[in-house]
Amino acid sequence: MGESAEATTQYNLRVVRQFTIMTVVWGVVGMLVGVIIAAQLAWPQLNFDLPWISYGRLRPLHTNAVIFAFGGCALMGTSFYVVQRTCQARLFSDALASFVFWGWQLIIVSAAITLPLGFTTSKEYAELEWPIDIAIAVVWITYAVVYFGTIARRRTPHIYVANWFYGAFIIAVALLHVVNNLEVPAGPLKSYSIYAGAIDAMVQWWYGHNAVGFFLTAGFLGMMYYFVPKQSGRPVYSYRLSIVHFWALIAVYMWAGPHHLHYTALPDWAQTLGAVFSVILFAPSWGGMINGMMTLSGAWQKLRSDPVLRFMVVALSFYGMSTFEGPMMAIKTVNALSHYTDWTIGHVHSGALGWVAMMTIGALYSLIPRLYGLRQMHSPRLVMLHFWFASLGVVFYVASMWIAGVMQGLMWRAVNEDGTLTYTFVQSLEATWPYYVGRLIGGLLFFTGMLTMAYNVYRTIRGSRTTSAQAAGTA
Ligand code: HEM
Ligand code: HEM
Repeated sequence: MGESAEATTQYNLRVVRQFTIMTVVWGVVGMLVGVIIAAQLAWPQLNFDLPWISYGRLRPLHTNAVIFAFGGCALMGTSFYVVQRTCQARLFSDALASFVFWGWQLIIVSAAITLPLGFTTSKEYAELEWPIDIAIAVVWITYAVVYFGTIARRRTPHIYVANWFYGAFIIAVALLHVVNNLEVPAGPLKSYSIYAGAIDAMVQWWYGHNAVGFFLTAGFLGMMYYFVPKQSGRPVYSYRLSIVHFWALIAVYMWAGPHHLHYTALPDWAQTLGAVFSVILFAPSWGGMINGMMTLSGAWQKLRSDPVLRFMVVALSFYGMSTFEGPMMAIKTVNALSHYTDWTIGHVHSGALGWVAMMTIGALYSLIPRLYGLRQMHSPRLVMLHFWFASLGVVFYVASMWIAGVMQGLMWRAVNEDGTLTYTFVQSLEATWPYYVGRLIGGLLFFTGMLTMAYNVYRTIRGSRTTSAQAAGTA
């Protein structure tokens, strides 16, 4: 009996399948919006003077769709799978798991409606208005109950390290969400933050940076710790390193937020604290990257033929790169050049596309056949094609933004001998234009890769249904 057939009776795979499919759907939607806003930055006429498709409203739609819809579904789906397999226990409650799935989809749809209509708190990554915030808190706590309830029912003596990371992500996001969204309602879709001025900014970036640290990093490290050993057929390189870098990571991330507020009204000591903790953060981040990479030692030859493993290796490489770049950008003198420029956008997408999306895609290609009782995806060649689209896409995107960003920073600070500015702002925009087109090409490549994935996933699932129908017919 195949792994999946045996698993269906023992585990709740239904909710995992639902989340997996929606990860692909929201990935396509969120990245399509990314492509649209990238085009709008190159050709502002594409705003069509319509408020609800203007850049200012579509940008938060993009960030919410890719982080919380695409990333969120990926994390919820894989965590529900990993926790069951590694604890050898069925989910704590099927009904609550289903509530988490449908609740999360409803929240995503509410975001997709309210953001283009212009309802926003204007706090980045926390734009959604108070009724949706309450819904998020309820669904998230239910998610925690199902997840930790399953761990409590485990039939294994220890808790596998992937669950440590997923667990930290679940607890931290609950805390961040509730504290940053404390607000006074002033109407059905309008509220004011209970914090004011510099304190509001500090709380917001404590949230914002830890959203990176726990949503976009710890959760995906959980995914990495399960799927990289699984796909490569090798045990985790060092269990001890995984525990050490886990504790270091969660202890240090919480203090790094002020690096988003350099040279602002925030007290100087707080900015320096943020910079110092960010530089320290390099060590635990690379601990995770090295542990992932070294897990592959002895399995490098598999990279030649296995595109799924390639996605994972590229993801780890980008994780290493962006967690080297981040600490550098947190140093105040470097930040004086990078802040407000497209360098930040390059850094974001080297983490978001290179690490988060590549790891998700790799994990899904590894998971989907297992979920449907198959040995592999409908077309491994399309997986390989996707790999090339995605890799070229990230490189185009990130390289364009790095060049554009450093150029902007240098142009803005250039002064003539008499102290006047060498360049006007418009000149820097004109110089940036080709790189905006370069980024759009990168985005289009990455998006095309996502479309091949959607097709391949559709054919895989349809094929599995035909196979099981035939099996039923012949039985
Ligand atoms: C086809 C793929 C994508 C394209 C074309 C794209 C494009 C864009 C564009 C044009 C912006 C606005 C940049 C600006 O304000 O100057 C942006 C912002 C952003 N994107 Fe993407 N994106 C893509 C995928 C993703 C993914 C997969 C994620 C996360 C997992 C992501 C996360 C973000 C974030 C966090 C920001 C805000 C950055 C900031 O405020 O500094 N993007 N994206
Ligand atoms: C050691 C790890 C990291 C450090 C110390 C770090 C540091 C930084 C710094 C200094 C900035 C620029 C702040 C500014 O000038 O406004 C930044 C922006 C950002 N980083 Fe990182 N970074 C790290 C890893 C990552 C990773 C892995 C991701 C994504 C998966 C990521 C996502 C972002 C995002 C989304 C922003 C833009 C925030 C905004 O302004 O909207 N970072 N990071």
